[in-house]
Amino acid sequence: MEIIKNLHSYMAYVVLAVLIIAVFNAITGWLGKRDFTMHKDLRISLFALILSHIQLLVGLILFFISSSGLKAIQTLGMGGLNAPARLLAVEHPFTNIVALVLITIGWSRHKKMMESNRKFKTISLFYGFGLLLILSRIPWGQWLA
Ligand code: HEM
Repeated sequence: MEIIKNLHSYMAYVVLAVLIIAVFNAITGWLGKRDFTMHKDLRISLFALILSHIQLLVGLILFFISSSGLKAIQTLGMGGLNAPARLLAVEHPFTNIVALVLITIGWSRHKKMMESNRKFKTISLFYGFGLLLILSRIPWGQWLA
């Protein structure tokens, strides 16, 4: 349980860093009207997609084994959770699943597009909103404490 929690905690740095790089790269490519290349732009977006999915899986495992996840909901009931407990057990997991759905939609849509500009725009918007959702529900206090 501690191993999974530490893994999720340390991987968060990597996932956030790679997502920020992917969004920044897509926005600069979009606004700068660059060509979307396989060896750089596709790789960065794919790397961000894979790492965030691994984080999703580790998070899901954590949700089922951590005392702050499903167990907290079962013991205290939805209404019994205070704000910090609700963030860990409900808001963070739920929001991040939605964020991962957005990122995945962005990835599959960009693949079907032909023009570089539309690819960059799609990744900018879907990965960008996904990243904002993730950032909005990180348990910052607990993480960086
Ligand atoms: C994909 C992006 C995600 C990121 C960047 C992320 C990041 C984090 C961070 C930084 C923490 C605090 C760790 C600490 O206190 O040291 C955390 C805790 C937690 N995360 Fe995530 N997470 C993500 C997705 C998920 C998902 C999808 C779930 C569940 C479905 C989840 C479940 C949890 C749970 C249950 C905790 C509380 C663990 C505990 O305190 O015992 N996470 N997450």
